Amino acid sequence: MSQKSRQFSAVKPKMIDVAQIVDLINSDPTHLIPRTKQEVVKLRLSSWRVVKIDNKVVGCGCLEKYSERIAEIRSFIVMSEYRSKGVGTVILENLLRCAQENQLVFVVTSRPSFFQNNSFGFFSQEKYILFHEQKHNQSNKKLLKMG
Ligand SMILES: CC(C)(COP(=O)(O)OP(=O)(O)OC[C@H]1O[C@@H](n2cnc3c(N)ncnc32)[C@H](O)[C@@H]1OP(=O)(O)O)[C@@H](O)C(=O)NCCC(=O)NCCS
Repeated sequence: MSQKSRQFSAVKPKMIDVAQIVDLINSDPTHLIPRTKQEVVKLRLSSWRVVKIDNKVVGCGCLEKYSERIAEIRSFIVMSEYRSKGVGTVILENLLRCAQENQLVFVVTSRPSFFQNNSFGFFSQEKYILFHEQKHNQSNKKLLKMG
């Protein structure tokens, strides 16, 4: 574990933490897909990690296993006032330990530098994710922004 993240520990959440996890994820609809309590529980609490400070969930992340080979880091967020202190790193390190039997762990992110600094990179032998941007009229664009 890196020096900067030693002061925090990431733990499996309890049922009582689910509401705070959902609030944290839904506080940033620009970067994260909103979640309901049911979705968090359906993904199994054992696949989540949280960092709690003074009983408050200040960061969370989830490992979604698609197969024995591939898993994805999802719903990964740290409360803005607790960022750049190592909380995200400790959650990521813990999730990667949970994924030890998976050969590949990927993330879809708008913060590639954070993951690149934490051992993620482009993997030339893997498939590519390609995007097709749909053409929408003005009223559709407004709806998309709200979504
Ligand atoms: C991405 C995110 C989870 C990172 O969380 P974080 O707690 O800020 O992460 P860390 O503190 O471990 O690392 C962030 C930076 O602070 C630096 N840092 C960590 N501890 C530090 C310390 N004690 N002092 C100074 N800098 C520190 C890290 O080196 C890192 O730098 P980098 O971004 O250049 O690599 C957070 O920015 C976030 O919630 N973003 C919005 C949601 C999002 O985009 N999620 C990703 C979607 S997959």
